[in-house]
Amino acid sequence: MEVVIRPDADDAARTAAGIVHRALAEGAGTLGLATGPSLLGVYRDLVRRHREEGLSFTGVDAFLLDDYVGIPAGHPQSCAEVIRRELTDHIDLDPARLHRPRGTASDPAAEARRFEQHLTETGPVGVQLLGIGGNGHIGFNEPGSSLASRTRLKTLTDDTRRDNARFFRGIDAVPRHVITQGLATIGEASHLVLIATGPHKAGAVAAAVEGPVTAACPASVLQLHRHVTVVVDELAASRLELHAYYRCVARHKPVGQRY
Ligand code: F6R
Repeated sequence: MEVVIRPDADDAARTAAGIVHRALAEGAGTLGLATGPSLLGVYRDLVRRHREEGLSFTGVDAFLLDDYVGIPAGHPQSCAEVIRRELTDHIDLDPARLHRPRGTASDPAAEARRFEQHLTETGPVGVQLLGIGGNGHIGFNEPGSSLASRTRLKTLTDDTRRDNARFFRGIDAVPRHVITQGLATIGEASHLVLIATGPHKAGAVAAAVEGPVTAACPASVLQLHRHVTVVVDELAASRLELHAYYRCVARHKPVGQRY
């Protein structure tokens, strides 16, 4: 795992977008997408790179991590809609290649199995972008999620519903259920890139990166993956005990070693 500390959120977003850019330029055919404000700067920079630097998403398959169950298709806060609005409407990704768990399916548990199967057949994902919840979730794998979990129907914690209430008309409007890729599903991706910014993420980042591997902090499962880059700003890095070492690694990166 490499922890990359950037001065601010914009710089962190550019770093994560740069990793995606390089992977696609080198022929990666699949990309994993997360939602949440943490990712918006990354998507803005990917759109900029598409417009200004010739980054192309032609032939790329993109997979969403998760979506809410119980809100109508086209709801402005559905993960699929956020990704369409913030990213895919502005790039050359074929809409038919944007794959997502359909939260509107009449049988969400069966939909989760369908999505997992589809991902298995089309994947693995090359670069998977991740955000992290204040409680350590990735995707919508809440604390207590099995480290071996696959895509499934999941119940959100009230903490997460409270966090996300700002995007809905209050907490009562936030769905209780989601379909999310499991922790083991996420772990199939070749390269995991987690981005976290702001002081409210500092505790979760420290637990995920330096705490024990435990279902109590789902993101701690990243410690078991062979290729993880955690991109944080100074504020999100503020509770990392080994921060001096991470900075030392950055200063003395061996020539040619990449993220
Ligand atoms: C949603 C997802 C979540 C978010 C995480 C951070 O698709 O994957 O894990 O990335 O909750 O969200 P924000 O950016 O709202 O803090």
